[in-house]
Parts: sequence; C-alpha cells; structure tokens
Amino acid sequence: MMSERRPLILGNWKMNTLPEEGRLVARQMVPMIRDGLHLRVDWGLALPFTHLSALRAELEGWGMMGGQDCSAHLQGAYTGEISAAMLAAMHCTFSLVGHSERRTHHQETSATCGLKIDRLRDQGLMAVYCVGETLEDRQRGNFSKIITSQLMDALGSRIQSLDSNGLVIAYEPVWAIGTGLTASPEQANEVHAMIRYWVVQHGGAMLAEQIRILYGGSVNASNAKDLLGCSDVDGALVGGASLKARDFTDIVLSSVG
Ligand code: 13P
Repeated sequence: MMSERRPLILGNWKMNTLPEEGRLVARQMVPMIRDGLHLRVDWGLALPFTHLSALRAELEGWGMMGGQDCSAHLQGAYTGEISAAMLAAMHCTFSLVGHSERRTHHQETSATCGLKIDRLRDQGLMAVYCVGETLEDRQRGNFSKIITSQLMDALGSRIQSLDSNGLVIAYEPVWAIGTGLTASPEQANEVHAMIRYWVVQHGGAMLAEQIRILYGGSVNASNAKDLLGCSDVDGALVGGASLKARDFTDIVLSSVG
C-alpha cells in the first residue's frame, strides 16, 4: 500500500566540500530537481555551517536547507557550538540530531539529543532524529532493543509535544553508512514498521500515520527505488551520493516514481 506521506529526501554533506565547491554542486542540482518535481517531493541538504550563507540563494524556494547538528543549549559559553536560533537566523528549516557519527566521535547520548530536539522545536525547526544499530548489535539480534532505547531516551517524554512537521525519524544502520552495504528493503521496512509502532504507542495513531521515517546508509541512484518503494519508508537520508548532482537528482526522482 502506498502511503499518503509526502516523500522527503535529504542529503547530508558531512564535512565535505569548501563553500564555493558546494555552491557549484547546488547550482547544477537545483535546476535538475526543480522541473516539476518540487511539487511532489520535499528535499533538502544538511550542510556544514560554513556553507549556509553561500548556498542559501541557490536553494531558497526550491530545497530545504538545514544543519547537521545543533547545540543542546540556548546560548552562552559553549565554544564551537551553533544554536538552533542561529540556524533559524540563517534560514535553515531543519537540523539532523543524533547522527551516528556524532554519537561515535562526540559521545552524544540520546538524552542530549532530546534537549537538542527541544531547542529546535522552540525555534520552529524540524528535527531529523537519527537512530540505528551497529553491526555487532545486528549480529546479536539486539537491534530492536537498541533502537527502542534510542527512541525512548530522546523522544519518550516529548513526543506528545511534537507533530510531523517538527519531527522526522531517520533509521541509519551504522553498518550501512559509507560502507556500500545497504539494508535490504525487507530489513529496512521491518525496522521502519517497528519505529512506527513505537510512535503509535507513545505519540498516538495520528502522529504515527503522518510521521516520515527516512532510511539512510549507502543509498544511491541504483538502490533508491526499491528502498523507497517499501510501505514504511518515506524517504532517504543520503550521504556520499548527495554530493553528486546527477546521483542525488536521480534519488529524488525515484521517490516520485
Ligand atoms: P552514506 O550514504 O554515505 O552511506 O551516508 C549515510 C549517512 O550517514 C547519511 O546521514
């Protein structure tokens, strides 16, 4: 059954390109995506903070622009951090939260992610909360326990105050990120259905019906269509392939058939 949820395709550029290179990629990408498609799909790029001002004019009116992280704090003595209000002031409309690379390299916990989601909500920005298990967790058959605790610790106490404009969940199995290994459509859909069921239980049936759950992990122009064809997969969070204008355009195109 095709869902009524509007597809959402987000690129995550991570720490790649210099601003001017990034602007050239966006300049190629936007016209390719824009011709008719923008009416049926939401898409955007999570950029390095340094790129926001250079890419704003390229994306404005066509694609969403977002950060890859934001501070759990409002403002103050937090050297190196960027607040949700700063993202909003740069015309971002969303931010990633809890990407596995932040959990691994910056010891970010799900509880901290919950505070970041609060900051984004207060600014009217959409939080794209990333969850996912490691290879070890998957091999041990532990993945549902890990993902449930990531959901519970970040969202459990606040999901009732969020709606589908303010929250997107991204399932990114750590073993599939940047490895060329992709979850099969069946594996992805199984976890997405489990996440949606968690939302039914904690946020209610209406939110569960409306919330978009994205898949991320080695999504490319060849495998996107099968993944996006799954009933509970509402879009993709794309790393490497989002840096290539043609490939990312093809992924966006696959989401609308
Ligand atoms: P890749 O698409 O490069 O595997 O990265 C996925 C990712 O981490 C997106 O956030």
